[in-house]
Amino acid sequence: MSIPPGFLWGAATSAFQIEGAQDVDGRGESVWDVFARRPGAVEGGADGSRACESYRRWADDVDLLAELGLNAYRFSVSWARILPDGAGPVEQRGLDHYERLVDALLARGVTPVLTLNHWDMPQALMADGGWTGRGSVDAFAGLADAVAARLGDRVPWWITQNEPWIVSLLGYQLGLHAPGVADLRAAVTAGHHLLLGHGAAADVIRGHGAGRVGAALSLFPCDPATDSAADVEAAHGSDGYVNRWYLEPLLGQGYPADMRQHWERAVGPLDFVRDGDEAAIAGRSDFLGVNYYTRRVMAAAATGPGRPFPWQVVPPSGDVERTDAGWEVSPAAFRDLLLRLGRDHPGTAILVTENGGVFGETPTHDGLVHDTRRIAFLREHVQAMAEAIAAGVDVRGYFHWSLLDNFEWAMGYRPRFGLVHVDYATGRRTVKDSGRFYGELARTGRMPS
Ligand code: NOJ
Repeated sequence: MSIPPGFLWGAATSAFQIEGAQDVDGRGESVWDVFARRPGAVEGGADGSRACESYRRWADDVDLLAELGLNAYRFSVSWARILPDGAGPVEQRGLDHYERLVDALLARGVTPVLTLNHWDMPQALMADGGWTGRGSVDAFAGLADAVAARLGDRVPWWITQNEPWIVSLLGYQLGLHAPGVADLRAAVTAGHHLLLGHGAAADVIRGHGAGRVGAALSLFPCDPATDSAADVEAAHGSDGYVNRWYLEPLLGQGYPADMRQHWERAVGPLDFVRDGDEAAIAGRSDFLGVNYYTRRVMAAAATGPGRPFPWQVVPPSGDVERTDAGWEVSPAAFRDLLLRLGRDHPGTAILVTENGGVFGETPTHDGLVHDTRRIAFLREHVQAMAEAIAAGVDVRGYFHWSLLDNFEWAMGYRPRFGLVHVDYATGRRTVKDSGRFYGELARTGRMPS
């Protein structure tokens, strides 16, 4: 396995999922605070009020990263800590917190990778429809301005948006995530404004002379269930919906024509895409963030009322390995995805901004967490990435999701994604066997035996 020098070996988290302390230091309400209060919205009625207590215990998290030997940390700022009302006065105490975190990371030799929007828009912006309103773009540029003015001289990697497809799908199409809207036109509109927000934020960050800017996309390779022409077309359509609709405008090709037609049929004219918008999204990415978890196996389907897509996800054939969340484990699809990005978008630098899985192991009688399945998962996925790198794909870093077990959105605290176990009753952190394994990999750049 040959990994380029300077490679970033990191772990990722996001503010809402780990911080807690929702009423501290002038933080405003976010859409997730409100959504989590909806009866039935989150499993077990859980919310983010405590989470991993990382707002208070941030220095412990930095110690963990350094002890493990990781050289990078991807975290997000809480938008509502910085702009509690969505616009207007900047809450300096929020910025002070992230400045302390960034300085501590740098002092320990850990490169900060900062995400601006990891889904926790201030609730105040819902007065204008959240991401369905065009005003969200300026509001987001305001966040970028406040954060880059303070930290632009120190943070080398900036991620504007995290997983715009998932925000559009779960937040605005299905209503399963905040803000809980279920309307297909709203979802397509929100997706556009998220991309436009990337462009606007990138311009602002560059204006502050800050580091490299990119967006993190949730990319799901779409494989046809059979080699029938209908399934092959279904897989291509699904790829348009999930992947190409975001990749192509970001990387300068504009929206793909087949999906434009699909959306016009499904939701009416895309008049929210104004002249100049595609140009304002394009050419503003120094790198592409790739979040990879699993693939989608696709078959043709009939459209009809309430069924706008001529494709459907079907179970993979045969006996496949799955995580505890039921997601198929497919390192081969990860390698092929990276190869495809290298082929279709040559010259694009890539950060693997998330990769991981739910493996529910907890401490045994010896006090340790023997999560051998996460170790196997890491081994296979890092190997797959190394194969893509060997084939010439420009991958600059890998971030495991997640550093800590944390609040997994609508699924609450049941799924455990961490390299470090968190006892939610006490806040106690225990490094899992996978954390030690990954730390050794990060320190040596070689696969531990
Ligand atoms: C994607 C998201 O960015 C993150 O917030 C989430 O916890 C993981 N994937 C796992 O589902």
